[in-house]
Parts: sequence; C-alpha cells; structure tokens
Amino acid sequence: MAHWNRIVAAGLAFIALGASVSAVDLQQVLFVGNNWEGTASILQSTYPFASLGKVNVVPDKAERIAAINANPIAWIYYQIIQGQVGEGHDQLVDDLYATPDGTALVASRPSFADVVSIDLKTGKVNWRFAVAGNRADHMAVSPDGLRVAVSASTANTVHVLDINTGKELGNFKTGDNAHENFFTNGATLIWNMAIGHVETALDDPIWDWTKGDRHITIADANTFEIVKTINMRDRLTAFGLGTNYSNAIRPAAFLPDYSKLYFQVSFFNGFFEYDVAADKLLRKATLPTDLNLTPDRSKWLLDSRHHGITMHPTGTKVCVAGTMDSYATIVDLATLSPKNLVPATKPYWATISGDGKHCVVSEAGANITSFIDFETGVKVAQTQVGYHPQRVRLARIPVDWKSLL
Ligand SMILES: *[C@@H]1O[C@H](CO)[C@@H](O)[C@H](O)[C@H]1NC(C)=O
Ligand SMILES: *[C@@H]1O[C@H](CO)[C@@H](O)[C@H](O)[C@H]1NC(C)=O
Repeated sequence: MAHWNRIVAAGLAFIALGASVSAVDLQQVLFVGNNWEGTASILQSTYPFASLGKVNVVPDKAERIAAINANPIAWIYYQIIQGQVGEGHDQLVDDLYATPDGTALVASRPSFADVVSIDLKTGKVNWRFAVAGNRADHMAVSPDGLRVAVSASTANTVHVLDINTGKELGNFKTGDNAHENFFTNGATLIWNMAIGHVETALDDPIWDWTKGDRHITIADANTFEIVKTINMRDRLTAFGLGTNYSNAIRPAAFLPDYSKLYFQVSFFNGFFEYDVAADKLLRKATLPTDLNLTPDRSKWLLDSRHHGITMHPTGTKVCVAGTMDSYATIVDLATLSPKNLVPATKPYWATISGDGKHCVVSEAGANITSFIDFETGVKVAQTQVGYHPQRVRLARIPVDWKSLL
C-alpha cells in the first residue's frame, strides 16, 4: 500500500512538474519594432544582446491594404501617414509587448489603425482591434501584463484592452494627438501625453497657438474617469519660459516612486524635471546641440528634437536619445550633466536592458540597436535589426521560441 502511494505521488509530481515547465519556462528578451519593415526583432535582453530572430507583424498585410483601398477615408489617412509621419513609408509597427504567458506579441500598427496579437509559434493573428479614428500609436502595459493602453492618435482617445482577448475594457478622451501612455501608482492611474499637431510646418514659436490642445490626461485605470489634466504651458510660464518652449510632452520617464517626471518637449534639446505632488517644474536640463543641425525647426522630424528617455532603476540617472542632435547619452540627475555623447543615427527610443545595467537605444537611421553602459556611459555593443527600428520593450517569451523568418 505504502509502495503504491509512493508511485502515485511520484506520478502526480511528474505531471505537476511537466505542467509548470510548459507554463512558466520563459526567457526575458527585447522586442524591437522595425516600423518601416513590419517586423519585430527579438534580441537577448542582456549583454551581448544577440539577435534571436524576427517576427512578421503584418502577416495580414494584403487583407489590410485591400480594406483600406475599399474605404476612401481610410485610404486618405493611409496616404497621409505614409507621406508625413512615415517619411514616405508605411508605419507598420509602433509599439509592442508580449502577453503574460509569453505566447503572443501584441503590436500597434499606425498605418493599419489597429492593435494585433500575433501567435509567436504559428505567426498567425490571434485577434485584431481597430482603434477609433485612423492611426494607432504608443502603448503601455499594466505591471501585471494583463491590460494594454493604446493611443488612437487622430481620435484623441486612449483605449484600454484585455491583452489576452483584445476586448476593450474602457477608454478615455485626451488632448490632440494622443501619444505616450504610462500606468502609474500601482496601476491605479493612466497618464497620457497629447502632442498636438507635430506634422505641420508652423514651427516658429509665434505659431505655437496653432499646434492644438496639448495636455496630459490622468485617468483612473479602472473606471476610466479623468482625474486631472495638466497643460504644461501654465507650468512653463510659472517657470519663466515662453512659447519658445513647447508644451507638447514627448517621451518621458518617472522616478520609480512616481514622485517626479522627466519629460522631453517638442523642439528642445534636453528635458524638464516636474514635481508631481507640487505640480510644478523644478529644473531644466539643456543638453548639447549638434553644430551641424539646421536651426530651422520646420526641418526637424515631426517637431522631435530629442525623442527617447529612460530611467535607471535607482532613479539617479536617465538615458536620452538626442534624436536630431545625433547622439545618445547618460545624464546624472543630481548634476543634470551628460556623460560622453555616443554618436547615433536618428536615435528614436531609449529603454533599459533586462538587468538594468545598459541603456538600449534604437537607431532608426542605421537599422541597429545600440547598448550603452549606465556606469561608464560607453557603448558596449550594437545589434543589427530591421528597417527603421523605433520602440523597444522588454518582454518574456518561451525559452524554446524559434524564429519563423
Ligand atoms: C525664441 O526663438 C526665436 C527663434 O525661433 C528667437 O529669435 C528668439 O530670440 C527666442 N526668444 C527667446 C526669449 O529666447
Ligand atoms: C536599412 O534597411 C533598409 C531596408 O533593408 C535599407 O534600404 C537601408 O539602406 C538600410 N539603412 C542602412 C543605413 O543600412
């Protein structure tokens, strides 16, 4: 009898072990969205950041293009996105995350105005969510990985979706051109930054008023009620700055406790430090200018001067993508002084490596991702990715994942 019990127990333990291995054996990786190619590169999340393969993010491309061609309004927006934001190219992947179980990649696709879930094993579309309006943009995932917020930029709306099913849980309205999103404060709040009309050429500060309604919207992450809006224009005025400084908040990074926000604004080579509770600007960090950069603001890409900032896990340093100034750099937050400037070709995003030791920078103009040591400020590696890499996010996928491309 005792003997049989032992055999049964051993059998159950074996089954339990088998189940847990298949359910949790995940590896941390980096997803890099190759916007003009419609693929995602998958890299190791720590040094040496080797490439593990690619995923096709537009397996349904022919079907989507046919649907756009059959709808005159959708066709007009598709052409506008290609001609303006896409610099002559389709924008096929903006932002991207993995589902908590690691079986799917969930991406926003600006030109297709949607969010899709792609099965990482079969390469097939699990679900597709069409956003309001005509363009999908930046996303944010909740810390538990279950909810994804996506900006529907032309509809001034943020949708919050169940990441496993693609069903909408709720939405809220934003300023003009919803852009960056963050889940904050234990995922109780969602912050959205609206950037206004970055596509127009009315870029002289005297035309600032034509750029639309640019404000931060803070919504309750469960009820989707708007808790607060912040127009940074008033805070810039209180800080003594006029319209030469835009109130269009571009990429941003919170301190780990959400007490301060560091944000970039249109046209500015640097960033601001904002005290969340006091609701005021504390400091301005001006970073070096590329002396070869034209001072004509209308020539800068979509009003971006610097586009990408990420926080070191200790909250003591940020890493900045100095897009139009062609460098990336680590900035000490005590002194606001940059370490050495690492040359970069159209650096478009900065994020943290899996172990927090390196800054990961996508170089859209060079089809590479570069890795900078947070301690030394020195570039330690670069990895070839696809055409026009932009967003980079940490993700977890099965250890036995094989590239289909
Ligand atoms: C604002 O920028 C314009 C050029 O865009 C410049 O001529 C002017 O001096 C600047 N004003 C201030 C207060 O810095
Ligand atoms: C990036 O990739 C595209 C597509 O393969 C290619 O046309 C372009 O020349 C590449 N750019 C660089 C700088 O290698």
